[in-house]
Amino acid sequence: MSGSLLPSAEEAYASPDAQGFFGPYGGTFVPETVVPALEELAHAFDEALGDPAFDAELGALLADYVGRPSPLYRADRLAEAVGLGTVWLKREDLNHTGAHKINNTLGQCLLAKRMGKRRVIAETGAGQHGVATATTAALMGLECAIFMGTEDIRRQALNVYKMRLLGAEVVPVADGTGTLADAVTAALRHWVERVEDTFYVLGSAVGPHPYPTIVRHFQKVIGEEALSQLREKGARMPDAVVACVGGGSNAIGIFYPFLRDVPADERPLLIGAEAAGLGLETDKHGAALTKGRPGVLHGFYSYLLQDEAGNPKEAYSISAGLDYPGVGPEHSYLKDAGLVRYEAVTDREALDAFALLARTEGIIPAIESAHALAMLPRLAAELGPDASVLVNVSGRGDKDMDIVREAGLGA
Ligand SMILES: Cc1ncc(COP(=O)(O)O)c(C=O)c1O
Repeated sequence: MSGSLLPSAEEAYASPDAQGFFGPYGGTFVPETVVPALEELAHAFDEALGDPAFDAELGALLADYVGRPSPLYRADRLAEAVGLGTVWLKREDLNHTGAHKINNTLGQCLLAKRMGKRRVIAETGAGQHGVATATTAALMGLECAIFMGTEDIRRQALNVYKMRLLGAEVVPVADGTGTLADAVTAALRHWVERVEDTFYVLGSAVGPHPYPTIVRHFQKVIGEEALSQLREKGARMPDAVVACVGGGSNAIGIFYPFLRDVPADERPLLIGAEAAGLGLETDKHGAALTKGRPGVLHGFYSYLLQDEAGNPKEAYSISAGLDYPGVGPEHSYLKDAGLVRYEAVTDREALDAFALLARTEGIIPAIESAHALAMLPRLAAELGPDASVLVNVSGRGDKDMDIVREAGLGA
């Protein structure tokens, strides 16, 4: 890479560096007591990458347990409704447990077993990562505890019930606003105390190094499959690829292969949709990249919603999976480098997109994924009626039924 912290368009994409920095973002801003655990994790991950047996075991589980490859579906009625030539949907909603999160929990729980840990913990917001971790722990015979904010426990009762059925302990976190950020803080604190026998299964492309790289590794299967499925179908390279961004794992999962493997002059526009909640002009949003500034939270440096004193500000979104005040460090880097564009989508726009997908294609998406779908009318206006757009449908909407009913959809 050149002297600049940002890559030029022609340079191969090669982040992070050995210390886990994506340009200035990322790193390891943690108490000294956690450093050995992170080093042990980085070592185990490196070893696993060099072991074909690890890949084979994960590949078999992804195929036979998760149901991969997830289909790439051409949504013609949706394309017509939004005024685009082609819309491709990457159907992560069809994975076992209903979202992309299972790709990552299988990878991390296999790592936990390699490291001889008998117990896993995780944090969860929408509950999808909690359910995926509880599922994987049951599959692998690991003890499991899930930290969850009390507000999210209320919003996502069905997922809480599922986790308990799967044998996990759900640990309520009443601190702060009782949402995802508080659950992460509690889980990190607990991990420090129990690091000898406990593996922390982090649910998004956030946290101290090496977590953002580990999560990217286990989620990049989404973009790799999409690229080869487009080729198999004889389709041209889409003009744009869109994914929603909470912490950023489904987005980096689909973007990374396009950044790494597709030459800059053929690369589609990559767009991350974050939560504008009740509007960017209000305080009620989760748009860390659009409205935040760089700071440290949960052990890494990244764009962060913060008040004048530099304290993390409460994030809001109708979707529990997008209301995190920070964002994965690689997205901060990609934003500054101009390699990915980030836009914010309101609750209302997401609900409209949710209803549109249900009515045109018979697919009920997660409200998180509906944020990505809401970019389609904007892209039709920008790119014109012949454009082709690929959207990552990160999850299915079963968990959101109460929320959309309360919002008046389907009435
Ligand atoms: C279906 C779904 N999509 C997206 C997200 C946001 O997470 P990420 O940005 O890590 O993909 C979540 C988080 O819970 C989710 O459940």
